[in-house]
Amino acid sequence: MNVSRKKRISAKIQPPADKSISHRALIFNAIADGKAELKNLLDSEDVRSTAHCLSTLGIPIDWSQGKNVIITGKGLRGFQSNESQKSLDCNNSGTTMRLLSGILPSQSFPTTLEGDASLQKRPMGRIIEPLTLMNANITGTTSGTAPLQITPSNLHGITYDMPVASAQVKSAILLAGLYTNKPTTVVESEPTRNHTELMLQSMGAKINHDNNSIQIEPSSALGSVSLTIPGDISSAAPWLVLGACHPNAEIQIQKVGTNPTRTGLLDILLRMGAQLEIETITDSEIEPMSNLLIRTSQLIGTTIAGEEIPRAIDELPLIALLGCYAKGQTIVRDAQELRVKESNRIDAIISVLGAMGAKIEATEDGFVVEGGHTLNGTLLDGQMDHRIGILAAIAGALAENETEVINDAVSISYPTFWNTLEKVAKV
Ligand code: S3P
Repeated sequence: MNVSRKKRISAKIQPPADKSISHRALIFNAIADGKAELKNLLDSEDVRSTAHCLSTLGIPIDWSQGKNVIITGKGLRGFQSNESQKSLDCNNSGTTMRLLSGILPSQSFPTTLEGDASLQKRPMGRIIEPLTLMNANITGTTSGTAPLQITPSNLHGITYDMPVASAQVKSAILLAGLYTNKPTTVVESEPTRNHTELMLQSMGAKINHDNNSIQIEPSSALGSVSLTIPGDISSAAPWLVLGACHPNAEIQIQKVGTNPTRTGLLDILLRMGAQLEIETITDSEIEPMSNLLIRTSQLIGTTIAGEEIPRAIDELPLIALLGCYAKGQTIVRDAQELRVKESNRIDAIISVLGAMGAKIEATEDGFVVEGGHTLNGTLLDGQMDHRIGILAAIAGALAENETEVINDAVSISYPTFWNTLEKVAKV
């Protein structure tokens, strides 16, 4: 796709539904009892991967009403083996693979979880280790990657200190904890997104949070929960960054989920001096939601590290772009997790922004950007990583001259991204 800078941007956008919450709404309702209506469920490739795995496991999912999906849960141990399809394909989705791994050891049949070339490179030892401590039979390749073989076993509760701050790992352990004989406790090094805890609690699971430890009690049943999925702050991020960096822009972004475990980018934007307004519109649903307004801003560089990293993990590629338009240095540290996402995102960020003339250097656990160097449009490779494809497109919408983006993979999280960019960036 080709993209170039427009003179003025004035737009109102409703970003697509939250991907993390959409996965969870499907998976958790699949192991609950009865029907749930999921309004505004994200219809993207990753969420379709979850839905497809669940359908193969015998869970009825009705997409006939468009974005309002009806799912019928079959109970905690209600998955069925599918004789004609013994392995489940998670495609590109780490969330699908890691969350299902918490549930499948307690079903009555063996399963194999596989993924695409990117997912097969991603670390699964981080779930194999704690689940094995819980007595699960789960094995990967010798290098700790997918495909994963899972056979039935009786789990027991553990206390586990997570070596990496990962909501996917936390969720796999908490889900497995539903099936144990005694409580399971996960201790986080830094707080990560808590959608799993909030949704399981709303379904009747007993979860206690104490500082950085989360304890779940074994459960005999979950109640289904109908909900409206808020917009994804990670899909609001491209418009926030475009609006802040463009010389003549005003963008309203509506109904964005603003769970505090996800709002690192908003704090970072405000600290960098962005003209950002946040209007909270609901605190009453399971997840808080806000309208956002971003205007052309004079940005200053900042340092992002420590507990802010998990709260902005998927936005760090776009934060590198913010750094290009800020005065002084922007430094990201403690973000080595970026190296094991859908691509090695530290290298991918450097290759995209470096090709455009940015002054940016990789470090082991992040990057350093020197702002104020003009970006020039060129041919950019999104490396089949949706967050990198979107970074390349937004960089192209800010740079001098024309940019062409290949291998953008935006349909993983944001299938309508290019249409929206076309509308937003119209002269
Ligand atoms: C996710 C958690 C994060 C995030 C990913 C989605 C989730 O990964 O990067 O896009 O839905 O739990 P980690 O938990 O592995 O950091």
